[in-house]
Amino acid sequence: MSTSREHFGSRLGFILAAAASAVGIGNLVGFPVNAAKNGGAAFLFIYALFVFLVCVPVMMAELSAGRASQRGPFGCYQLFAPKHPLWHFGGFLSVLTPFMIAVFYLVLTVWILGFLLEIIGGNLRAMAEPEFFGSFITGKSLFVYLVIVAAFVAITLHFGVQKGIERGAKIMMPALFFMLVAMVLFILTRDNAFAGVKYYLIPDFSKLTTQVINGAMSQAFFSLSLGMGIMITYGSYMDRQASIAESARLVAIADTAVAFTAGLLVLPAIFSFNPNTNPDELSSSSVSLVFTFLPKVFLALEASLGYIGATTVAAIFFILVLFAALTSLISIIEVPVCAVMDQFKSGRNRSLLMIGAAIIVVSLGCVVSFGMADFFTHFINYGNCEAGTKCKSFFDLIIDVFYDTILPLNGALICVFVVYQWKKRNFDKELENGDADYKGSIMEKYINFSLGTFIPLLLLLIFINTVLSKFFGTSLI
Ligand code: ALA
Repeated sequence: MSTSREHFGSRLGFILAAAASAVGIGNLVGFPVNAAKNGGAAFLFIYALFVFLVCVPVMMAELSAGRASQRGPFGCYQLFAPKHPLWHFGGFLSVLTPFMIAVFYLVLTVWILGFLLEIIGGNLRAMAEPEFFGSFITGKSLFVYLVIVAAFVAITLHFGVQKGIERGAKIMMPALFFMLVAMVLFILTRDNAFAGVKYYLIPDFSKLTTQVINGAMSQAFFSLSLGMGIMITYGSYMDRQASIAESARLVAIADTAVAFTAGLLVLPAIFSFNPNTNPDELSSSSVSLVFTFLPKVFLALEASLGYIGATTVAAIFFILVLFAALTSLISIIEVPVCAVMDQFKSGRNRSLLMIGAAIIVVSLGCVVSFGMADFFTHFINYGNCEAGTKCKSFFDLIIDVFYDTILPLNGALICVFVVYQWKKRNFDKELENGDADYKGSIMEKYINFSLGTFIPLLLLLIFINTVLSKFFGTSLI
């Protein structure tokens, strides 16, 4: 075990860094849209059940395995299953997944930065036009924004766990919370905003189909940064005397609170723009909501606040989303960087250079997936594509596989790995470190009953169902 491994400087630092990883684009946009379309508080209820009954135990498994092994996912699977190459494949998946997520998350972050700079440059009026987004995502400026985002993430990661990741989270997370609350308070003063609050908070259980429940689970997994090796890696940087159960609970509460609060921003904003909005007709895609619908909502503020006022509100919103995206992106890229450091005993800068260059190269394939290069735009045929057409782009493929599908599989693997390979008694011992109250607690009883049984089974079911529906146009349930 390396004694020189980096660690977070304080428990608060760890909580903020883990929450910074969890709070991302998924919370600020994905959750409100899903909740609005799928039964409001009824969706929130199902989502919260998943977060606390499934995701918190999985997070505890990931953090414990990381802390006990003092390695990232790849090294952790190797250390605890030295003679089982199949488990090494599980470790490999836990590194490949964040690598590929980083590829599309980088592109989204680049768009967000680009939108912020366009807004600051006084272009909000043009951005509210329907054709703006289409020309924006095929414009050459994207490459400049890509360099800026990549440089920011690289500099943060270059400074390491305490001086980079933790310090970044300590600055950006409080700023993010402050801006979010300020935006909510401001939006709630607008006409018709409470129609949005009402729509958001009144439960409609009739909307909870099996697909919606499946979607809530995937959303919760992505939102809590599970199944992507992050919590294993962050666990390996965690203080041995910190309570894992309490830390996981706090991160889950912070993440869910931000997602819920984001709903109090996005829905009222949409209803104050158009009181007759039918949320069922909102696009299911967070991307189109952020980049084509919200600029119109912000421009409409011109009537009461003037153009500068509307531009200011729009800029604050995009700074907020940019902070959330950057802090998540940093944590996602740290996983493969840490894997290379662990595996090849190479220094942080060399590992960062290798991984960063590889992510940028694959990301370029995504950047040009929207019309700039036909090969990447019409990349592959699956799912609902007509026969003989390649209706899915390279970007679609990465999102479908690594955002929508694979996370529950990785989650099921870590549960089975921790309970049956690393062994439950070792896991329990790790959870008792720094947590005198864990033994005999309700949490311990719940984990004993669920982590080796229904949680991995449920995750496997969700994985199989998603594969069938995404790629074969059918479903189990
Ligand atoms: N957990 C991060 C998000 O929600 C990846 O965007």
